[in-house]
Amino acid sequence: METLKFLTPEQAEALRAQFGTPLYVYDERTLKAQAQKALAFPNAFGLTVRYAMKASSNGALLQIFARCGLHIDASSGYECHRAMRAGIAPDKISLSTQELPADFSELYERGIQFNACSLSQLARFAELFPERELGIRFNPGIGSGGTVKTNVGGPASSFGIWHEWLDEVKAIVAKANLRVLRIHTHIGSGSDPAVWQHVAHLSLKMVREFSDATTLNLGGGFKVGRMNYEQTTDLQEIGEPVRDALEKLHAETGRKIHLEIEPGTYLMANSCALVTTIQDIVHTGADGYHFLKLDAGMTELLRPSLYASQHPIVVLPRRRTDKFLPYVVVGHCCESGDLLTPAPEHHDVLHTRELPEVSIGDLCVIEGVGAYCSSMPAKNYNSFPESPEVLLRESGELALIRRRQTLEQIVQNEISLAE
Ligand code: LLP
Repeated sequence: METLKFLTPEQAEALRAQFGTPLYVYDERTLKAQAQKALAFPNAFGLTVRYAMKASSNGALLQIFARCGLHIDASSGYECHRAMRAGIAPDKISLSTQELPADFSELYERGIQFNACSLSQLARFAELFPERELGIRFNPGIGSGGTVKTNVGGPASSFGIWHEWLDEVKAIVAKANLRVLRIHTHIGSGSDPAVWQHVAHLSLKMVREFSDATTLNLGGGFKVGRMNYEQTTDLQEIGEPVRDALEKLHAETGRKIHLEIEPGTYLMANSCALVTTIQDIVHTGADGYHFLKLDAGMTELLRPSLYASQHPIVVLPRRRTDKFLPYVVVGHCCESGDLLTPAPEHHDVLHTRELPEVSIGDLCVIEGVGAYCSSMPAKNYNSFPESPEVLLRESGELALIRRRQTLEQIVQNEISLAE
């Protein structure tokens, strides 16, 4: 049975009383502990850890990581601005994006580091900024992710410049006299550690192709166990061979390559819990199911519906019981896809969890929701408001870091017809 990761049942109840549900609660202690583990990633000639802020973008979280010494990986111009608003200096932000922002030139001039993620991005950069510095994201030819949707390497992925187009890259670089300071790869989320390591070596080969390169960025992708039967990647174990390879390169060429990693999931996944209330219970007869309906769903947590991802679900029955029932846990949206307990690997197949018997009004906490949940919701579907975010400080204090959205805010940009 899954258990609460950092909250106590009493804290969950107090949180509901103070802020209402549904509510995301981040744990400052876990955030800092994960940051320290990432900062201990093996390296030979220096390390920069960038937080992939797409995982969860609240400025308060960025500030916590910045104070730990982390830099930022941004995936859009908007994320760059959001990070700067949180007080992050532009030179600590690196942009690897699928869509070059309209104000790209301004961002670059302010000091944001840029990794070109396609040949056309590289060509546009060359035109705007001849003789200037940039990084290049390559698609190394293979990828690995926890699911097909989170695999972003290999021929079926549009992310980065295909590794065989090296001559084209070199031609653009040479023509505009660009300085390629960084080689970047990111092959997926929840990567197989063996594939990740293999790609690290392929990426290092790319570093040899660019004599100006001083930095190797190996992206994120470190697998994290959310469920107690899932494994978490040991950063020391996968990092050591990379460090050895960097040392070997140095011995052969004299080049001291600085290492970057940019985890999102590793830092965030188990740092947040979603506190919800069971607002209905529905039974569909002898051949049916017992459904628990929460006051949250795909509007807070889309990953199960999208990837069949498994999240720990902990119910807190007010009435003590020894009885367990096989429950299907669903969200509050009018959509059968709003399913929080899909079968592993089949997002549209119902699956049951053995949970203590509960009643309407009991609390239900979903764990492992720090990465790609609050930042990746089916926002405002059925016009449910965006949920608040609270930070459980190391001191035990609770800090509201985002308010619940109001109906007024949901409709604020609508323009009603004159008649
Ligand atoms: N760097 C780049 C360039 C990325 O695109 C990403 C994630 C990361 C770093 C961080 O990867 P992570 O350490 O979180 O695996 N929505 C999916 C994950 C999509 C990740 C997209 N890129 C999920 O819920 O698992």
